[in-house]
Amino acid sequence: MTQIIPAILDKTPEEFKKHVEQLQNSHTFQEGWIHIDFADNKFVPNETIGVDVIEKYPTTLQKEAHLMVSNPLKWIEDLKKAGFKRVVFHFESEDNPGEVIKSIKESGMEAGIAINPDTKIDQLEPFKDKLDQILIMGIVPGFQGQPFIPETIQKIKALKSKNWPVVISIDGAVRDTNAKSLIEAGIDQLVSGSYLLIGDIDENIERIWEAIS
Ligand code: DX5
Ligand code: ZN
Repeated sequence: MTQIIPAILDKTPEEFKKHVEQLQNSHTFQEGWIHIDFADNKFVPNETIGVDVIEKYPTTLQKEAHLMVSNPLKWIEDLKKAGFKRVVFHFESEDNPGEVIKSIKESGMEAGIAINPDTKIDQLEPFKDKLDQILIMGIVPGFQGQPFIPETIQKIKALKSKNWPVVISIDGAVRDTNAKSLIEAGIDQLVSGSYLLIGDIDENIERIWEAIS
């Protein structure tokens, strides 16, 4: 069953508060998941709010963290305390992927690895049985509102054909016009930021459902 998850990338507590209210007032999110982007201005040239802000605005939405940071290991304890259910970190970060997965799992959360457009799927082979999720980036991470990289479709097909026991997600430039080809290529979860959040979320999500049905 396909899942659509909204992504928020906020630079101030006010933006975060506004987005959480906007999402909580929408009726259409399955299981109420939210993808919260964190950037450290090192791994990517952008900086977001930190985990401390999340704790100040309790929400009933289930939280997934996307860590666009150089040292994900340092973030895990705080994410657990703030009630996150899943942590997705970058394969290209500086920490050892096996150690990061172990730390996330030992904290009782689901673990996912995100890979940049230039990173090859085969590099994830050693971790395939330890992961819950692989997040394919359809853009260079760091900012919302970028154009979709078309080669991503082939990458998804290649990953799907491996039959690894993971949920396959796509993040970056997901919208009504590419959702169907993403699902056909093998995507389980669509993560969408600017397309969903600009305007009426319920109408935007409905347009994605119509495109993939
Ligand atoms: C990009 C983030 C994405 C982003 C998605 O750095 O990881 O999650 O918020 O936003 P859109 O859908 O606008 O590309
Ligand atoms: Zn993200």
